[in-house]
Amino acid sequence: MNSAFDPGCRRCPRLAGFLDAVKRQQAHYFCKPVPPFGDPRARLLIVGLAPGMHGANRTGRPFTGDFAGILLYETLHKLGLATAPVSVSSDDGLVLYGARITNAVKCLPPENKPLPEEVRNCNEYLFEELAQSPHARVILALGTVAHAAVLRACGRRPSQLRFAHGAAYALGERRTLVDSYHCSRYNTQTRRLTTAMFENVVERAAELAA
Ligand code: URA
Repeated sequence: MNSAFDPGCRRCPRLAGFLDAVKRQQAHYFCKPVPPFGDPRARLLIVGLAPGMHGANRTGRPFTGDFAGILLYETLHKLGLATAPVSVSSDDGLVLYGARITNAVKCLPPENKPLPEEVRNCNEYLFEELAQSPHARVILALGTVAHAAVLRACGRRPSQLRFAHGAAYALGERRTLVDSYHCSRYNTQTRRLTTAMFENVVERAAELAA
């Protein structure tokens, strides 16, 4: 049976080996494929890149415990999509309404850089997540890797539609892809992505999804 998530996946030898090595150093870290988080009936699906070493890979929840999640959860809370402005741990009681967060690659990649074949291997899970999320009207892709992964999961050639911050593309009759720069520390500190830019794009995606 196809699965939208396999908690024991070891399909990518490099990533599985890296998780094992990190676990030996950091025994209390999650160090497994990180499952999607949020409302299973969400109309807005947010797709990030991959777990961060000391964030999702430590806590087991996407964008939780590192810099990249700060702006994301603050924004979701501002828009009424999250019960709290911070996501601290997988058992902090935070609930998302109408939104769900997943990653293009579910396992921590060395240096935050999954290889193309790892993104492809993991795409089956994203494909299934989309197939099992009929309510997801808008997919917000954070960054170019997520953008290409979403297109691939929707049966489109990744080169078909160019990534551009704020762009919105129809994916068939029922779905829209919205692009945003990734809310990484690098992008926010260099001000490629400001708080206002991110809030605007997430608000637009949420409105389109409503
Ligand atoms: N944490 C995630 O879960 N995904 C990202 O893309 C970055 C940090």
